[in-house]
Amino acid sequence: MSENTNNRVYNFSAGPCTLPLEVLEETQAELVDYHQLGMSLLEMSHRGPVFEPIYEQTRRLALSLWGAPDDFDVLFLQGGASGQFPMVPMNLLDKTSRGAYINTGHWVKTALNDAQYSGDIYQAWTGEHESFSRTPDSSEIELQEHTRYVHLCSNETIGGLRFPVFPDLDVPIVADMSSEMLARAIPWEKFDIVFGGAQKNLGPAGVTLVYIRKSILGSLNKSIPRTFSYAAQQANQSMSNTPPVFAIWMVNKVLHWLKRNGGVSEMQLRATTRSKLLYDCIDGSEGFYQCPIQTAHRSQMNVVYKLPTPALEKAFLEQAAEHKLMHLRGHRIVGGIRASIYNAMPLEGVKTLVSFMQDFKNKNG
Ligand SMILES: Cc1ncc(COP(=O)(O)O)c(C=O)c1O
Repeated sequence: MSENTNNRVYNFSAGPCTLPLEVLEETQAELVDYHQLGMSLLEMSHRGPVFEPIYEQTRRLALSLWGAPDDFDVLFLQGGASGQFPMVPMNLLDKTSRGAYINTGHWVKTALNDAQYSGDIYQAWTGEHESFSRTPDSSEIELQEHTRYVHLCSNETIGGLRFPVFPDLDVPIVADMSSEMLARAIPWEKFDIVFGGAQKNLGPAGVTLVYIRKSILGSLNKSIPRTFSYAAQQANQSMSNTPPVFAIWMVNKVLHWLKRNGGVSEMQLRATTRSKLLYDCIDGSEGFYQCPIQTAHRSQMNVVYKLPTPALEKAFLEQAAEHKLMHLRGHRIVGGIRASIYNAMPLEGVKTLVSFMQDFKNKNG
């Protein structure tokens, strides 16, 4: 253990959040003088002989580790997942086609709002009247004529719910997977686009991975600025503008870490184990902790729950911090507690949280 590690806490932040310690240490060691070249990678051209192979390796790793078929490429863009909300309709829609949205909470509401400026869109299902406590069955999703894509959020980071299975629809899915990137295996045949920022499962903030089916590139809208055009970005290896070199470099390191740790299937197993520990603790607490999400739809990345009173929640957060259990406050829109447990969260962190929760309940329940 290096000196750096002594003060590390368990960081349950929703993102940016915990990164593998070995990745941080490796980055630190290489930062100032990259491979004895006399300068940092951050000072080199993105088109030079050093960064280009890193980019290509990252691209290939991001595709192969998630099992993306040959018909997919992955772009490394800026503007966050939020930038994809307008980019999707800008690229995919024309005057006759429409985008459908499955509203499972905050992030789809935001997408609906941002997408309206770039095309004809509509809500094909909403969980609002059920307080966003579940995702829909395929049969509940009402698609209209000329629908080009169905947007969904695979895991609602704020609400704490996820699609346990992706719906069967006649129209390709565009998935915001911001909080589940390379954290679960996915049925690629259902998707045209899968996107998400790196800052939860894959690295630092600053880069957005956009997996896109190559066969749709030729049919996309051509009358858009090149920075916002999937086709132009794909043709230019995501370098229509200067790419976020630092973030891509760190994603490369996180992907290598992921590979060393058993890949997506292992990440999925770990996510199931970690989240089960927390949900078992919540469900076994005789109502002291309450999760508002229907059991089958509960997130494996963002576990949300409430305590009996706001005063107890305040005490919970204060005492958790004393145990180095940090950033457990729920999003300001929903309140309560949220434990975000992405790929790099060690099992030990969740075990420590569960034991603290049991102790807190015994003292205050
Ligand atoms: C599901 C989801 N979609 C979109 C976003 C917005 O991402 P960004 O901040 O990268 O634009 C977030 C951020 O937390 C998210 O969790």
